[in-house]
Amino acid sequence: MISRRAILKTAGASAVVLGAGVGGAAVYAHGPGMAKARAPWSEAGKSFGDPRIDALAYAILAPNPHNRQPWMFELIGDDQIDVRIDLDKRLPETDPFDRQITIGFGCMLELLSMAAAERGFRAKIVPFPDGEPQPRLSEARIAQVTFLPDASAPKDPLFESVLMRRSTKEPYDTSKRVDADALKKVLAAKTGSMELGGTIDPDEIKALTDLAWLGWMIEYETDQTRRESIDLMRIGNRAVIKNPDGIDMGGVQMGLFKMTGIVSHEGLNQKGSQAYNIGIDMYREIIHSAMGFAWITASENTRLSQIDAGRNWVRMNLAAQQIGLCIHPLSQVLQEFPEMAEPYQTVHAKLGVEEGVIHMFGRLGYTRFPAASPRWPFESKLINS
Ligand SMILES: Cc1cc2nc3c(=O)[nH]c(=O)nc-3n(C[C@H](O)[C@H](O)[C@H](O)COP(=O)(O)O)c2cc1C
Repeated sequence: MISRRAILKTAGASAVVLGAGVGGAAVYAHGPGMAKARAPWSEAGKSFGDPRIDALAYAILAPNPHNRQPWMFELIGDDQIDVRIDLDKRLPETDPFDRQITIGFGCMLELLSMAAAERGFRAKIVPFPDGEPQPRLSEARIAQVTFLPDASAPKDPLFESVLMRRSTKEPYDTSKRVDADALKKVLAAKTGSMELGGTIDPDEIKALTDLAWLGWMIEYETDQTRRESIDLMRIGNRAVIKNPDGIDMGGVQMGLFKMTGIVSHEGLNQKGSQAYNIGIDMYREIIHSAMGFAWITASENTRLSQIDAGRNWVRMNLAAQQIGLCIHPLSQVLQEFPEMAEPYQTVHAKLGVEEGVIHMFGRLGYTRFPAASPRWPFESKLINS
């Protein structure tokens, strides 16, 4: 989907057209106002007097689709957390069966487990204790987690990267190759029974880039899937602070562009408009700068396998972070809406997954890591507490 950077460029172009002019790198600055939306990244690590809360403060920093942060937590007794979903935070157009949303829960549960171990607890996680909700998630619990004191619970070396972890959605440096050792380190983050794969072979990168691009264009050109993402754009700092989820289009200049009408949800959604076309140009560059790909496949598309895929994805993301490698999920070709059926089949055939499912697919490369993405404070995710 279109990025904040694309809009800034678009708005910059519009502003130039309007004679206002825009100052280079300054347009990329978010300004001090965004500190509030990023506060949860500095809250994590504090002691809140309850090991479950200490761990949740890290868990909510997990990657998740469109940063919807759909999780809700109910503290039960002294040692249990029931994990539930805010059903309004799903993505019915791009994720019609809540598969990706469930993967995001898996990412969150993995961080919860790691953070519990840091405090001397083993988090016993029972996914879907009330049964697997199908074909969509329901009000039934996503997981029941029990914190068991266990000083021997192994601390995970990947944990040290949790606060630095990013999904890096910028163009990568095409002069910097990803080497076999780096890919190996990312794939070594595996846990459980998922299959992790990847490539740094130039021919394969080219073929997968073409597919990823095709998928991106289909999502963008399909009215209801594009609309879903555009509706979730938070344009300007004020909008991000008010709603620190969705697609972050923060920044002082963004706020000005919005106020003056240069950038609007309606304008971005208008096929053929300047904003629309620059969005395509920008994402073409981003996707075509892939210097490698990594993916996760499972033999079955069960809810459990979706949770496991999430646990693996965040581990790959952390492992990449530790070696300065960027990673960016490109989920379009894996999406189950009808217009995507053909590239969906092609990517499954290409990666040799005829029977199972590809749960995650993303590009690799090097560039500067971006600032942390916004988060709702964990307090706002507690039910009855
Ligand atoms: C299941 C899943 C699918 C995702 N798909 C995409 C995607 O297609 N494109 C993208 O730019 N980011 C994708 N992301 C990354 C999220 O947008 C990102 O995690 C979220 O915005 C929070 O940012 P952060 O990971 O830097 O904290 C995906 C993440 C998950 C867990």
